[in-house]
Amino acid sequence: MDIVFSGMRPTGRLHLGHMAGALANWVKLQDDHECYYCIVDWHALMSDYADPSKLAVNSREVLLDWLAVGLDPKKCVIFVQSHVKGHIELHLALSMITPLGWLERCPTYKEQILNLQNKDLSTYGFLGYPVLQAADILLYKAGKVPVGEDQAAHLELSREIARRFNNFYGPIFPEPAMLLTHNPKIPGTDNRKMSKSLGNTLDIADDMSILEQKIRTMITDPARERRHDPGDPDKCPVWDLHKFFNPDRPQMDEIASGCRSAGIGCIDCKKILVEHVTRHMAPIQERRRYFEGRGDELKDILSDGARRARVTAERTMSEVYEALSMPLQ
Ligand code: TRP
Ligand code: SF4
Repeated sequence: MDIVFSGMRPTGRLHLGHMAGALANWVKLQDDHECYYCIVDWHALMSDYADPSKLAVNSREVLLDWLAVGLDPKKCVIFVQSHVKGHIELHLALSMITPLGWLERCPTYKEQILNLQNKDLSTYGFLGYPVLQAADILLYKAGKVPVGEDQAAHLELSREIARRFNNFYGPIFPEPAMLLTHNPKIPGTDNRKMSKSLGNTLDIADDMSILEQKIRTMITDPARERRHDPGDPDKCPVWDLHKFFNPDRPQMDEIASGCRSAGIGCIDCKKILVEHVTRHMAPIQERRRYFEGRGDELKDILSDGARRARVTAERTMSEVYEALSMPLQ
């Protein structure tokens, strides 16, 4: 069975973009792959080292969102990166052989330093972000890594690091392939990319009254200033949400032509959307509420996940130590 690894930084509650993109793929993969899904808290610390106080709470939120959308600890291994020491051990080993130039040239490195001006990211640790990511993947000898296009450079580096390690010390690591995530367009309430920092998200944890209120105030095609102004669904973020949540083709056709002829108003269009979102989110919100009240069960899921991850991780690390002429006692 192919081994799959992926991770998310615990930066807080996840939104419907995560749900419809990355997580929908993860949920499918757990049925026919050996999947490791990791809450990468060390990676979060690389940019948030100045204030780690929210790490634990944020990890809990991510876990709740994962379970809510249907990741099933019976089908996949769900764990926290810092609970499995192999990640930091392999990170150190790989950092020995990774040329500085590879890391300095990585496009995400310069980008992040420019984008996150409020954080000082000129640290040794942050430069090594892709090395830790390579360690995550290679520790489980994962062949497939489901991620978005933004991670392409990191995946390429993981392959290069694996190749270089194998050249020095013998064939230990398979080269991981990127499994490009199908990402339906889920825009934010202001029609920009949905993102926590823009404050335009619909969150998995939002209850229906919050989602309804966010949708009610959502931007529509600006051409529809008044009820009788015709619009174009293709210029409207509400329509993008219909395309994901509304399975009723004839109703969609009706709305699209109604929008173009001003036969339907945005208020009614949004009401219909809310009905579909309610239906889609009901079981998800129910699962989230179930786990919110069960701290012990959450703890058990993570300790069981870490225990299972460690079995694979320790097997790889004993090969690595052997290859480095540092056999374990
Ligand atoms: N860098 C990834 C991101 O920001 C998170 C991540 C860390 C990851 N380690 C990983 C993703 C290993 C895939 C595999 O999204
Ligand atoms: Fe958007 Fe619907 Fe209004 Fe058309 S009718 S602009 S699709 S909200």
